[in-house]
Amino acid sequence: MCGIIGITGDAPTLDVLLEGLARLEYRGYDSAGLALLPATAGGALWRARAATGTHSLDDLAKRVDGAPEGATTGIGHTRWATHGRPSEENAHPHVDCTGTVALVHNGIIENHYELSDALVAAGHELSSETDTEVLAHLLEEALAEAPEAGLVGAVRTMLGRVRGYFALAAVRTAEPGLIVAARRVSPLVMGVTATTALLASDIPALLGTTSEFLLLEDDQIAELRPGSVRVTDLDGVEVEPKARTVDYDLDAARKDGYDDYMSKEIHEQPAAVASTLLDRQLPDGTLALDEVRISDDELRSIDKVFIVACGSSYHAGLMAKYAIEHWARLPVEIDIASEFRYRDPVLDSHTLVIGVSQSGETVDTLQALREARRWNAKVLVISNVVDSSMTREADAVLYTRAGPEIGVAATKTHLAQITALEILALYLAQVRGTLYPAEARALLVRMGELPAKVALALERGPAVDDVARAYRDSPSFIFLGRHVGYPVALEGALKLKELSYLRAEGFPAGELKHGPIALVEPGTVVIGVATRTRLWEKMLANVAEVKSRGATVVLVANDGDDETARQADAVLWVPPTEQLFAPIVDVVPLQLFAYSMARLHGLDVDRPRNLAKVVTVE
Ligand code: AGP
Repeated sequence: MCGIIGITGDAPTLDVLLEGLARLEYRGYDSAGLALLPATAGGALWRARAATGTHSLDDLAKRVDGAPEGATTGIGHTRWATHGRPSEENAHPHVDCTGTVALVHNGIIENHYELSDALVAAGHELSSETDTEVLAHLLEEALAEAPEAGLVGAVRTMLGRVRGYFALAAVRTAEPGLIVAARRVSPLVMGVTATTALLASDIPALLGTTSEFLLLEDDQIAELRPGSVRVTDLDGVEVEPKARTVDYDLDAARKDGYDDYMSKEIHEQPAAVASTLLDRQLPDGTLALDEVRISDDELRSIDKVFIVACGSSYHAGLMAKYAIEHWARLPVEIDIASEFRYRDPVLDSHTLVIGVSQSGETVDTLQALREARRWNAKVLVISNVVDSSMTREADAVLYTRAGPEIGVAATKTHLAQITALEILALYLAQVRGTLYPAEARALLVRMGELPAKVALALERGPAVDDVARAYRDSPSFIFLGRHVGYPVALEGALKLKELSYLRAEGFPAGELKHGPIALVEPGTVVIGVATRTRLWEKMLANVAEVKSRGATVVLVANDGDDETARQADAVLWVPPTEQLFAPIVDVVPLQLFAYSMARLHGLDVDRPRNLAKVVTVE
């Protein structure tokens, strides 16, 4: 998730661009950059970029010497890296070979491999690791082929060659005063006044310049000129953009109208899963990780896998155990990271240790991975932060692409982690030959249905609120699950604990009769994950055990499953999906339940007591 901005008007724009980028920094801060057009056609394009992490914007502001005096048209970008490390070379804006076309982009270009191969074969020189840079060179090609069509025609041509999703803005020295923008899925808003036209990834960057915004729809193209915005569709037919008026402040704008970051991030989960799934296939159809410094032969020599992680990342790892063992037929052990290195694990060069960490900085996990390397194990990391400490030390990396997660409680990064781990399981199966590439691809395609299923589960939020309200005074909760439902139960219990400070414990449902069932008494609220996985019938038998002792039962059940619903006092409905993908959908109502309960208790869901977003102490 990056932030883009563009302004063209009748007054110097540099400071307004920098202020706008500062307001977009919460969308990503790995690097920042600007490009300004000279006031006269044919003058030199001016560009500055900085990639110093959280200081990127400050450092960019120190690099504006030499900016064209009084430049009134420019574009800017603040980056959350997905393809290519956070470096100056990878920072936007990107330019074409001539250095006269500049572009900023938020999103993922899924077919960038094949596009860059074709561009290089045609003689273009690419200077970055990013998917975005190909767009600038595609514009260069289109302008060479049809200069009369200008930048807007070039963007139209380019969109016909690109798969994936994007919000982009481009400028060209030959057309001063003009910014051309386009979007497909990624957000983009525009504003216009009598003298100025503006665009940004979302409203915070433009607050204060206007309260009237114009919305660009998918595959529409906007031409922004001082005081005017013209929108056309892919066929060049002019369309009237929808208008939107806002009356909220900057903090509310960053939450995009949600009450808090947690609810915003819970509702970003369909996009987080979709982003993590995008661009996982090479042109030959085989699956690809993001960074691989392990050969396929080395992966084929692996005879044991350990997964090490903490908290919600540990629960994601637990779900991966089922997928890796089922598809890749590799034995998997999973450890709480802070315990792993103190138990003298048996590791060698044929062991793969997978670290799961959204921050990539959790010390317990980082130290566990360093221990693994001391035993010559191969290390693979699943993280949400490109170039984080863990990813820099790993032999291979698969990034989640959930964008920055501000809320302390992990939600969208957790779903993205499960998604990435399922992709990894398919990748291992493909490399080891326990799945044919076509089988792995087919499963990846089925995973493409998950964002819509997560969105459907999110639509049931009001019904989940009702259940939370019904049991708001319960002092404690038991969460139960079996098979892949067990880690879902653990995650549900953790969310409720860390957000509402209530007693909540997750158990494998089959374990209850070995002691924990002594906790059950009339009125005890038991929340069970009872979707149709392979142990569904056994799960219902465990539910009967607690019901017979007077428990109040809430069940996560598949839509239309009346047989399960009859066993429950309340149901949290979710759409059905394949059982190894079920955790991605089934955990959603439990996140919403915990969120709702915390709100009912008047607690701060973004900053729960005693917790930190990244735990950098052991
Ligand atoms: C989960 O809601 C918590 N924020 C916490 O358990 C977190 O998952 C854990 O600290 C691991 O963090 P990491 O993914 O950044 O390593």
